[in-house]
Amino acid sequence: MQNSQRPILVTGGAGFIGSNFVLQWLATEGTPVVNLDKLTYAGNPNNLASLASNNAYTLVQGDICDRGLVDRLLRQHRPRAIVHFAAESHVDRSILGPEEFLRTNIHGTFVLLEAARQHHASLEGEERSGFRFLHVSTDEVYGTLAPDEAAFHEDTPYAPNSPYAASKAASDHLVRAWTHTYGLPTLVTNCSNNYGPYQFPEKLLPLMVTHALQGKPLPVYGDGQQVRDWLYVADHCSAIRAVLEKGRVGETYNVGGNNQRSNLEVVHALCSLLDELVPASQFAPHASLVTMVKDRPGHDRRYAIDARKIEAEIGWQPEESFETGLRKTVEWYLANSAWVDNVTSGAYQQWMQKNYAGRAETNGASSAEAAAANAAQTAARGAK
Ligand code: NAD
Ligand code: TYD
Repeated sequence: MQNSQRPILVTGGAGFIGSNFVLQWLATEGTPVVNLDKLTYAGNPNNLASLASNNAYTLVQGDICDRGLVDRLLRQHRPRAIVHFAAESHVDRSILGPEEFLRTNIHGTFVLLEAARQHHASLEGEERSGFRFLHVSTDEVYGTLAPDEAAFHEDTPYAPNSPYAASKAASDHLVRAWTHTYGLPTLVTNCSNNYGPYQFPEKLLPLMVTHALQGKPLPVYGDGQQVRDWLYVADHCSAIRAVLEKGRVGETYNVGGNNQRSNLEVVHALCSLLDELVPASQFAPHASLVTMVKDRPGHDRRYAIDARKIEAEIGWQPEESFETGLRKTVEWYLANSAWVDNVTSGAYQQWMQKNYAGRAETNGASSAEAAAANAAQTAARGAK
């Protein structure tokens, strides 16, 4: 079999980005995909229901921490690449319960790296030289930026602030070490906040859409002036495909959407769009539902990605602007209310209670302290 026709092994392919990636991969590349996913609360096989009769797609329910299982999959499928998405991914959950983040994000990545190392050592010829381990990571490993500070580039020192970010930073360091020490051919992508179809409605955008449609309060943390660089998920998936094809082994590529927006700007843009797309809504104007609530502890003030390296070396650029991506996203949620109903059942309600019960409504002023703490951290970085 030609190496380019071999399967890829995707981890976490039933989650938000992973399922968009698997769908895009099979629609464009068409070569087989084996998806190893534990199907936690965030993994939803329904995202990939359209692949039910596609012989090129295999779902294996299992844990990336299970070395025996990973070894068996590598022996059985001999993938040409591992694309590693599987993670605990929600900052708020990491604050309320960090242990699972350390287990999956750090230990799970270690298990995959060790299995990949052994597998790679057993390969020969083109199969060996073409093998890649692509680790999907986040811009949150770089910490927080002041409003006028330059965007994160690939050499920005790591300064993770949340348990989630720390666990991803640790996994990035493991990947680096496995390349440097053992010669495992790895690639790392660090991307900004994704949005789009199939995102679990505990993250900002889908949470706000689903709440607005039900006339529930739209809980904005702190003063709502935290800035994120929004990346449409299909653009992120095309970036990963491009890095897999053309990335230089051992390199990191930052992936961003060139769309810096404050959380309040995002929520207001969403509300205006809902006013337009659901004109008969009894909850319009939806902006009246915006409610300032107690801030997230340690809330990073600003993330922004400098994506010049991936553009210059690989020729990748995002296709969607925030306006076009937001419209596609909202239209998807409006057209897929059954998907939303299905994922917002019992366990989801318990999470909402756990995360929001203690966040009494505020006037948005409580963020002054958080802003001061962020400014101190930024100043400390400058002084190093
Ligand atoms: P997600 O939470 O939606 O999905 C995670 C998937 O991993 C789920 O399908 C889950 O079942 C699976 N999983 C969790 N633990 C597992 C384990 N031990 N073994 C096997 N599978 C397991 O996450 P996402 O938003 O799709 O993020 C995917 C990757 O991208 C993550 O590594 C995340 O850190 C990174 N990332 C996400 C964003 C974002 O905005 N969503 C931004 C930057 C980086
Ligand atoms: P989130 O989607 O959790 O991503 P991340 O923390 O990885 O950036 O949150 C995006 C931003 O939205 C972040 O600044 C926190 C904020 N936020 C709210 O203001 N209210 C909410 O209910 C949620 C979930 C997030």
